[in-house]
Amino acid sequence: MEMIIFDTQQELDAYAAELFVGIVKEKPDAVLGLATGSTPIGIYDKIVELHKQNNVSFKDVTTFNLDEYVGIKPDNDQSYAYYMKQHLFSHIDIPENQIHLPNGMASDVELESNAYDAMLEARPVDIQLLGLGHNGHIGFNEPDVNLSGGTHVVKLKEETREANARFFDSMDEVPEYAITMGVGSILKANTIVLAVRGADKAEIVKEALTGPITTNVPASLLQTHARVIVLLDREAGRMLS
Ligand code: F6R
Repeated sequence: MEMIIFDTQQELDAYAAELFVGIVKEKPDAVLGLATGSTPIGIYDKIVELHKQNNVSFKDVTTFNLDEYVGIKPDNDQSYAYYMKQHLFSHIDIPENQIHLPNGMASDVELESNAYDAMLEARPVDIQLLGLGHNGHIGFNEPDVNLSGGTHVVKLKEETREANARFFDSMDEVPEYAITMGVGSILKANTIVLAVRGADKAEIVKEALTGPITTNVPASLLQTHARVIVLLDREAGRMLS
């Protein structure tokens, strides 16, 4: 596991963006695994900047997002589909049919999950961006005695709903379920970039990266992957000596 601790958020964002843009330059038809939440916003801003400055084209790139809320339409501004459009897709030249997010409105979620996994099998992810939940979740794979390998529907833990309530008008509006790529699918990516910032994540960063590998801390399974690049700001890395 390679780890870099940055003095500033801007440095972390720029480094992560360069990793993704670097892959696209090397392999114009790269498959990118993408995440939502607060952490990637600055990274996406920087990717957009690099795309515009350096003329890096995303026209042959394919993307797969980790997760989506169940029951929220893609044009709802709380959906992850909307978030991705707002922060990345509407600013780069990627064709819409090369963008994939799990469909949280699918009438048959099992069918949707299997179809998503089939697409991931056909186009394996070259580089996967991950954030880290306070409870150690990656994607929406919440701590549990068992973890699912493939894409599946998950009931969100109250702590996750509370953490995400900041994006909604009230707690009642925060969805109870999400559809997420499984840990097995995430671990199939060739390279994984785990980006974490903030003092409130310092403890879980230490547990996930240096503690025992356990389904109670889903991110600890990243320790089993051959190529994980961990990008932290000083606060998130402060408990690692
Ligand atoms: C988002 C996702 C989540 C977040 C995690 C951290 O697609 O899968 O695992 O990465 O909850 O979120 P932030 O960055 O908002 O702290």
